Amino acid sequence: STVYLNGEFMPMTEAKISPMDRGFLFGDGIYEVVPSYSGKLVGFEPHIRRMQDGLTALEIEQPLTLEQWRTLTETLLEKNGGGDLGVYMHVSRGADIKRAHGYPASVKPTVFAFTFEIPSEPVADLDKVKTYKAVTEQDLRWQRCNIKSTALLGNVMHYQASQRSGAGETILFNRHNELTEAASCNVFVVKNGVIATPPLDHQILPGITRHILLDVLRQDGSLPVEERTIDMDEVKNADEIWLTSSSKEIAPVVELDGKPVGNGKVGSVWLAAQRLFSECKY
Ligand code: PDD
Repeated sequence: STVYLNGEFMPMTEAKISPMDRGFLFGDGIYEVVPSYSGKLVGFEPHIRRMQDGLTALEIEQPLTLEQWRTLTETLLEKNGGGDLGVYMHVSRGADIKRAHGYPASVKPTVFAFTFEIPSEPVADLDKVKTYKAVTEQDLRWQRCNIKSTALLGNVMHYQASQRSGAGETILFNRHNELTEAASCNVFVVKNGVIATPPLDHQILPGITRHILLDVLRQDGSLPVEERTIDMDEVKNADEIWLTSSSKEIAPVVELDGKPVGNGKVGSVWLAAQRLFSECKY
């Protein structure tokens, strides 16, 4: 495949960075993943804005403007044949000549992007939906999960717990047994027709799919939705649990820690919500 590295397009096998890159040494960088279905990018602008916010938080200079990111992305999609592709974008602080914790005064950020194949766009169809099993763990990540940092070891280790159990995700709770998010997704629960998701704070990533879903639910108005603290008992007794992320859109969880969620089948509220999401133009 063709990738982008520091201003140039090249074959993946030719892309090289310094081992002194702070992304490699410290995980000192920000990343994004934007889905594109046959050239239609979902939530491009909010994704870029979130990356820019992350770079500002790390005091890394903005290497490209929104429009430059758009041109880069469109070129990369075209060079990789279009279709259903995820676009991975990555900005690290760059390579210094020595390893020191402090931010170096003048290094150029490393900008890297590539595409990868993703499943076709999810549809609101009970026969076609991909369902998930999940396990639970205490959230042992850092206290700045709102920053989409490339330092993902906490997420990776939590995710691996689901793989060991033959599940597909790990749902996390803070030390007060309150729901935060999953290793690579945000989480929604449904009880008696009411949809709820944890509020935005330092404990979760401000997911773009979460944002779009809340927006379309509120605009439609027929399904009540709340952003509030959710405790572990509510998750364990929920009628429905959903994972949201750019590649999954809204994915139903039908089994949690080996027990069925609700009646163990995909719920009717999921169907209504995925239908609204699929119809929206983001
Ligand atoms: N994961 N929470 C975490 C910890 C995530 O890593 C992600 C995304 C989300 C959902 O965010 P969004 O709706 O903006 O994709 C929530 C990406 C896709 C990844 O790391 O591959």
